[in-house]
Amino acid sequence: MTRGEMKYEGKAKRVYATENPHEYVVEYKDDATAFNAQKRGSWQGKGATNNAITAHLYPQLEAAGIPTHFIEKLSDREQRVKAVTIVPVEVIVRNTAAGSFSKRLGVEEGTKLSRPVVEYCYKSDELGDPLINTDTALALGWAEEKDLKRIRELALQIRDFLVPYFEKRGVNLIDFKLEFGKLPDGEIVLADEISPDTCRFWDMETNEKMDKDRFRRDLGGIEEAYAEMLRRVTAEG
Ligand code: C5P
Repeated sequence: MTRGEMKYEGKAKRVYATENPHEYVVEYKDDATAFNAQKRGSWQGKGATNNAITAHLYPQLEAAGIPTHFIEKLSDREQRVKAVTIVPVEVIVRNTAAGSFSKRLGVEEGTKLSRPVVEYCYKSDELGDPLINTDTALALGWAEEKDLKRIRELALQIRDFLVPYFEKRGVNLIDFKLEFGKLPDGEIVLADEISPDTCRFWDMETNEKMDKDRFRRDLGGIEEAYAEMLRRVTAEG
């Protein structure tokens, strides 16, 4: 598998074409950004950790009936994935109030929600991924109605898999962000990553944050937190 032309560079990953038109290579970088890239940082091992966590979770999601773009882990920082067209609608699923939800609605962080909340954002670095609703995505042609329906269904199925998975490992899954892609035949599959960059993980005993909020909020101990999350994710349930 050789890397060809770079198709896309995001804040934390690069995507390359390969000799197979149906497959890409994703490379995980050590770079981190927050607050619409106004805050930048980088630490050694971040890319490898997020790659390892995602590569551990995706095959288990597949086994639970959730189609994903993942094929295999190629190296510390690389994975082989199916070539998809990314739907430019990011999906956030919330179990407990935190972050922008708490700020926007004046709800104290840590308040358990009586049911999961699914939010949608327009995937745009330029605009800082603004909150939208499904009407916006339909009216602007970013997704089709049947695809949005499927995306919501999959997002909630992923939540139903992840919440007990992390609970068994002493972690409270507060919220998480997903991205979906479309295969040439129209099938919607989970793409991108599931990692401490894209989820809020709180230790169930201490409520200690074990995710990117340690970077966003200058809490220190970021490398240790990511390493601990890798250890817990790969631990037997
Ligand atoms: O900041 P906010 O509270 O909206 O984030 C909700 C969840 O989505 C968090 O787990 C955060 O890490 C994730 N997120 C993300 N990428 C973004 C925005 C949020 O992974 N662009």
